[in-house]
Amino acid sequence: MSDRTVRFNDLALRDDDLRRDIDEAIRRVIASSWYVLGPEVEAFEEEFRRISGTRHGVGVASGTDAISLSLIALGVGPGDEVITSPLTAAFTALAISRSGARPVFADVENDTLTLAPQSVVDRITSRTKAIVPVHLYGNACDMDALLKLAEQHGLHVVEDACQAHGASYHNKPLGSLGQAGTFSFYPTKNLGALGDGGFIATDDAELAARLKSLRNGGQSLRYVHEAIGFNSRLDELQAAVLRAKLPHLESWNERRREISARYVEALEGSALAPVAMRESAVSARHLFVVRTSSPESLEKYLGEQGIQTLVHYPVPVHLQPAYRGLEQGEGSCPVAEAAAKSIVSLPLYPNMTDDDVDYVIDRLRAIS
Ligand SMILES: Cc1ncc(COP(=O)(O)O)c(C=O)c1O
Repeated sequence: MSDRTVRFNDLALRDDDLRRDIDEAIRRVIASSWYVLGPEVEAFEEEFRRISGTRHGVGVASGTDAISLSLIALGVGPGDEVITSPLTAAFTALAISRSGARPVFADVENDTLTLAPQSVVDRITSRTKAIVPVHLYGNACDMDALLKLAEQHGLHVVEDACQAHGASYHNKPLGSLGQAGTFSFYPTKNLGALGDGGFIATDDAELAARLKSLRNGGQSLRYVHEAIGFNSRLDELQAAVLRAKLPHLESWNERRREISARYVEALEGSALAPVAMRESAVSARHLFVVRTSSPESLEKYLGEQGIQTLVHYPVPVHLQPAYRGLEQGEGSCPVAEAAAKSIVSLPLYPNMTDDDVDYVIDRLRAIS
């Protein structure tokens, strides 16, 4: 066993300036004593919608809520089917279920592990109302093909960009390509709050207005509940913290890309294959994932070297106990099922030191 530890992630606020800005943001909210749906949320919505490249933005309580509220606001509900990827955080599918619709899992591409357009075609029925493409690990889906399909079949597209803050596809921000783009500010995300938070980016003013009402109990005016809405508000403290962090997003993503590029170079010619990225896209590099014939032995070996790893995700969502009733069993998404048995995520975060990156690379090279 090694006496050295390389953490999988590190959320400590090590930058003194950032720490000061966050302290100041928290003080500002407390001094204002305005805690829910106030000027910080409004300002953050304006600032983040610019990053996500849309005309409107709506802060909500989580990425999960961002997806379910988007579907509901688009009129998707009971009796409808929504096609998504089985290789994602289960929350993507739970959000679809929460809307009342039924998640239908299409398979993924073997190289990028994102939704395979041909498999989506195979799953479309008369009940299909929407597609939720997941930009897994911060990497873009084949949006040209998926958007074309959606247009041909009259389907909504709600992008799950929960891992893709600041990423782009053909120079357009991910999250700006469908009717709605959804983001999570869970603390480990590329832009993370000090708790939960979420966001919906859209060009559609009416959709944004419906979402603003739905997140706040379905109210049109104070005490007038036009719809059976939700309590899913981004609070002022989280919005203020996110505003303090937002100016750093691009440099943090750049650092993630720099570390990833070093991993890719180090793994050339080895038995470990990094998950591929689409050429026409810039990844947010939320996670760096390699494929191997023996993920358990890779995790065991790296663990012995003091290097922490995780698997994203070990169980494809259609095989989760919660979805037993859907009758999409083993074998229905063979590429995703095989992928889940071959992936390992390596340490990757903006705070990671060059020394730690060198050590991981050295230990990876020692395998081949
Ligand atoms: C791809 C993806 N979709 C949805 C979610 C749900 O986001 P949240 O945890 O903010 O509800 C997450 C994060 O957990 C995610 O990674």
